Amino acid sequence: MKIIHVVGARPNLMKIAPIIFECKKHGEMESLLIHTGQHYDDKMNGLFFRELGIPEPDINLGVGSASHAVQTAEIMKAFEPVVLKHRPDVVLVVGDVNSTVACGLVVVKLGVKLVHVEAGLRSFDRSMPEEINRVVTDSISDILFCTEQSGVDNLLHEGISKEKIHLVGHVMIDTLLRNLERARHSVILEELRGRGYLEGGNFAVLTLHRPSNVDDPVIFSRILDALEIIHQDMSILFPIHPRTCRNLATLGLDERIEGLSRLHLLEPLGYLDFLRLTSTAKIVLTDSGGIQEETTFLKIPCITLRENTERPITMEIGSNQVVGTDPEKIVQAYRRVISGKWRQMAVPPLWDGKAAERIVKILLQKYEKVNRISQNVLMT
Ligand code: UD1
Repeated sequence: MKIIHVVGARPNLMKIAPIIFECKKHGEMESLLIHTGQHYDDKMNGLFFRELGIPEPDINLGVGSASHAVQTAEIMKAFEPVVLKHRPDVVLVVGDVNSTVACGLVVVKLGVKLVHVEAGLRSFDRSMPEEINRVVTDSISDILFCTEQSGVDNLLHEGISKEKIHLVGHVMIDTLLRNLERARHSVILEELRGRGYLEGGNFAVLTLHRPSNVDDPVIFSRILDALEIIHQDMSILFPIHPRTCRNLATLGLDERIEGLSRLHLLEPLGYLDFLRLTSTAKIVLTDSGGIQEETTFLKIPCITLRENTERPITMEIGSNQVVGTDPEKIVQAYRRVISGKWRQMAVPPLWDGKAAERIVKILLQKYEKVNRISQNVLMT
């Protein structure tokens, strides 16, 4: 069975790692790793390959940053010849980034089977680029692997047949479990303490990169209003995404953020340093999807600075609360954490470190079945 794995952006890397490791255990599987080049900075990309032990990509399409249309189109143009040359049995895409949908479209038009890992998640907010990517990718996939029951329900509701859908748990949690002990040896906290960034015991971790939050000066300023209050109580560590960093300057918010003496801007962090921070923080504030899930697993209170989430299980049984960008609501949620009034937290079913194992087992079973049928056809 020849399988092409696709990655493009930072959040794809922790998802693909356990799948590649699992495939390697099966001699009958031949894997090829293709990187679209959507993310390219060492801190957004290379560092994660090294830390997670992901093999170097067999091919890097080197597409880089551009508008959504140009980036998607360039990935499609560069990926088509790769599929034609290598003729895989299946192509596996993960998550919801532009690379996911671009490669998915190429694959189905060439009649190759498409597998989507992290299928079925829906925010029901079509202004989010990722929501469009999710809906399109799911609608053209042949096998869909879900992380939570809501994903299965959404796909069935959209008319996707039951046989294609499998609830397998979360490959991102496979990676977290595999690396939690290593992350305890990261020295990031000691380094930050040395820089005077960790006055007092407690600290918050902040990440922000969604266009809806960081491209709009009014919304970004409202979030800063809340942070101004929170940082009076505890340090806020803010590893900053390149697009957010660029926007601070262009939106004229850089002086304001510099004025928040206990909010500390950091370069984007590697996987292990970031995990050390999130697993020891008092609270995490974020607009990321994956971090809502990682904090749920870690049982660290998470305040999501968005109006909705495509990962409802993190709110239903996990540590997440979606509060939007109203400063009052953010501060109220923060105060609930500080006063110990946060809800009970639980880990979702099947988030047990074995998702990749389940995925590869199902892929092999399906492939054997298809092979058996085609051999029977040849013999008759
Ligand atoms: C992308 C994904 C998003 C994911 C996020 C994680 C889409 C539509 N969005 O958003 O779902 O949560 O990755 O980071 O696919 N840049 C760099 N260096 C890099 C990569 C990007 O400086 O290595 C800067 C560039 O200025 C670029 C901007 O970040 O224009 C945005 O990058 P892009 O890949 O378009 O989207 P992200 O915001 O990273």
